[in-house]
Amino acid sequence: MHNVSYTYPGGVQAVQNLDIEIRSGEVMSLIGPSGCGKSTMISIVSGLREASGTIEWNQKYVDAANALNQRLVNVVFQRDTVMPWLSVEKNISFGLRYLPLPKKEKALRIDRLLKMGGLEDFRHSRPHQLSGGMRRRVALLTGIAPQPKLLILDEPFSALDEPTRIGIHADLLDMAHELDMSILLVTHDLSEAVSLSDQVVVFTKRPGTVASLVDVPLGRDRDVHHIRSTDTYQLIYRDLWDKLWDQIGTTA
Ligand SMILES: Nc1ncnc2c1ncn2[C@@H]1O[C@H](COP(=O)(O)OP(=O)(O)OP(=O)(O)O)[C@@H](O)[C@H]1O
Ligand SMILES: [Mg+2]
Repeated sequence: MHNVSYTYPGGVQAVQNLDIEIRSGEVMSLIGPSGCGKSTMISIVSGLREASGTIEWNQKYVDAANALNQRLVNVVFQRDTVMPWLSVEKNISFGLRYLPLPKKEKALRIDRLLKMGGLEDFRHSRPHQLSGGMRRRVALLTGIAPQPKLLILDEPFSALDEPTRIGIHADLLDMAHELDMSILLVTHDLSEAVSLSDQVVVFTKRPGTVASLVDVPLGRDRDVHHIRSTDTYQLIYRDLWDKLWDQIGTTA
């Protein structure tokens, strides 16, 4: 996206002059002070809000509102988005409802997703029969089902305990890798940002703009369980914390 700005109808300018590039197959995290415009940016990238500036996909301009329709992008929100009246399998296939795929193809894709998410034995279960971590995995699989080029996640794991969260991190990176999918992740958790990302963007306070862009050179085949004890991880974590604190510290 180039030079993207957005002001809400009431006059609050949420983001300003955003220049951000997410490379194919990469994970980018977005961190910043509360209210700095992260969710607004997500709604712009996913075509839910029309902003000034341009958004391009593979160097080609695409009207943001068409990005969702063209299945370039899909979003998983923070709140529990699974549908309680549908089984795990039906929830995931809901993400495929508009895809012009043969029935057999859809069934194969659902099988594969259930396997990737370790939910094969729960395909006929209803969400209330699952743990919180399993429900989050169902939400993720539903978002991944249409195989978007870019999966956007707005604080999707914040309600989970640490071991469950790390387990899902590992699944998510495997799936992204396998499907060559890019991820844009909004998070308040610096450990999560470092362990999953190739790049981390730190936003300024509102109107949000890029304060720093930090590379996380930990490779795609990283082991999210063990990475946290490495020196590189610790260094990046501290660097990000300082950069985030610089922004929070200047919040009025
Ligand atoms: N629908 C809306 N109408 C008017 N102003 C809004 C609306 N949604 C958000 N804002 C304002 O835009 C600014 C950015 O909000 P946004 O939700 O993007 O922040 P955020 O970075 O996601 O915050 P948090 O980390 O708390 O989720 C805030 O000042 C907020 O008050
Ligand atoms: Mg938000």
